[in-house]
Amino acid sequence: MSPRKPTQGSSDLIVVANRLPLDRVVLPGGQTTWRTAPGGLVTALEPVMRANKGAWIGWPGDTGETVKPFTDNGLTLVPIGISQNEYTEYYEGFCNATLWPLYHDVVAKPEFHREWWDAYIDVNERFAHAAAKQAAPGATVWVHDYQLQLVPQMLRELRPDLQIGFFLHIPFPPVELFSQLPWRRQLLEGLLGADLVGFQLPGAAGNFIRLVRQRVGHKTHRDQVYLPDGRVVRAAAFPISIDTKAFEELAGSEPVERRAKQIRDDLGNPAKIFLGVDRLDYTKGIYARLRAFSELIANGDLSVEDAVFLQVATPSREQVEQYRLLRNDIDQLVGRINGDLGRIGRPVISYLHSSFPRQEMAALYRAADIMVVTPFRDGMNLVAKEYVACRLDGDGALVLSEFAGAAEELKQSYLINPYDINGMKATMLQAYHAEPKELGRRMRAMRKQVSEHDVAFWAQSFLDSLAEAGAAHHDKKTRPALKT
Ligand code: ADP
Ligand code: F6P
Repeated sequence: MSPRKPTQGSSDLIVVANRLPLDRVVLPGGQTTWRTAPGGLVTALEPVMRANKGAWIGWPGDTGETVKPFTDNGLTLVPIGISQNEYTEYYEGFCNATLWPLYHDVVAKPEFHREWWDAYIDVNERFAHAAAKQAAPGATVWVHDYQLQLVPQMLRELRPDLQIGFFLHIPFPPVELFSQLPWRRQLLEGLLGADLVGFQLPGAAGNFIRLVRQRVGHKTHRDQVYLPDGRVVRAAAFPISIDTKAFEELAGSEPVERRAKQIRDDLGNPAKIFLGVDRLDYTKGIYARLRAFSELIANGDLSVEDAVFLQVATPSREQVEQYRLLRNDIDQLVGRINGDLGRIGRPVISYLHSSFPRQEMAALYRAADIMVVTPFRDGMNLVAKEYVACRLDGDGALVLSEFAGAAEELKQSYLINPYDINGMKATMLQAYHAEPKELGRRMRAMRKQVSEHDVAFWAQSFLDSLAEAGAAHHDKKTRPALKT
């Protein structure tokens, strides 16, 4: 049978993302278990998809044997296997050593290798075929993120009956940077297979439209691209968010309140706790923020009795060279700062290189007086929104990089430029000394924003716009409202 003619499936709503919401993990005893996968994409999409009993096509996070589709709490999970070689060339290579740095302002130098590109095509084809097989006639397929930019076009060729949406969770670079990519035209054409291409910010959608006009030569008007076959593709911004209510409920629960108090006690009950929570990624500006804090201690602006910095970093992409270098740099920096400036029982930086359950994250957010989020570039940054959602008493300060997508919505945060260490120090001090009234004014406004714009709102707006965009080519004018 030709692979170009897949059989149709029975799912009406399908998410296609590089990762499943669960990672397969082999325990030391050899047993297999599943645990929540890292990153903002899973945090955002999992509650929406669980509530709607859709299907999720993704990679289980290892290169072990391929697992058959299974159901988890009503959600159908369709695992896609990748080989060890594809792990190196597709995941670590093209996704995370070519596209990731290129799309994040070239914070690190992207590498271009032709064999990595070939692996990217192969894996994208596998995902497209799985989606074509899983989708019911006329189904809605929502493809996610930079790892799968060729899937929309591949899927459209296999199944022209589908409504196809694409959402990019990370920034989309300006024309000058994107144009470095040897395969720029193929990627743009891949994305144009969708009816709707969504971005975090309007600027990113604008970059895409400009690139399509200049590099592919299609006619565009405002947010629309006119293809030679008569199809119209729309590009627009849909800022992603969190399950705000779930975070609020968690933060207000008795065990979380108790745990937050215990965290403060364990840190020696300083006047103020600064907190950083990130995947250990060079785009997040962890080194710069820890240096800024250590200088405040070294200069005597803050004392170790009054302030501690708690930095939590989830291990991420550990075999990629830039990530290995970053881990060493942070280990060394923390050791040096604590060695030079700490006292017995009073480290300057309390550093945890580990992943935690959501309940523990909520306790950390409740325990912290000042949340410090300093990426050099970030699509959105959900950590900033999670912190705001957990500040039930309307207190606490958010220090936020102007280069995080979240800065466009959380305007009452203490905005900083992460490249400006002195500016960052001054703003951290300003947040430290702020009056409760001022903190309350800022936090209340930010809480209103995240409570009115939660992840259900994001998903519904994207899918409504997709239904509208797709209606021109399909007979389907409406789609059922999502359950939240
Ligand atoms: P990214 O998608 O680049 O990882 P985001 O800030 O948008 O960045 O999302 C990160 C998500 O991962 C958040 O939901 C956050 O709660 C979660 N997270 C970050 N660090 C940890 C950790 N150490 N343990 C558990 N979850 C974490
Ligand atoms: O949102 C950015 C993102 O890259 C997701 O696509 C990804 O799943 C997450 O961060 C974590 O990264 P990784 O899947 O490489 O561990």
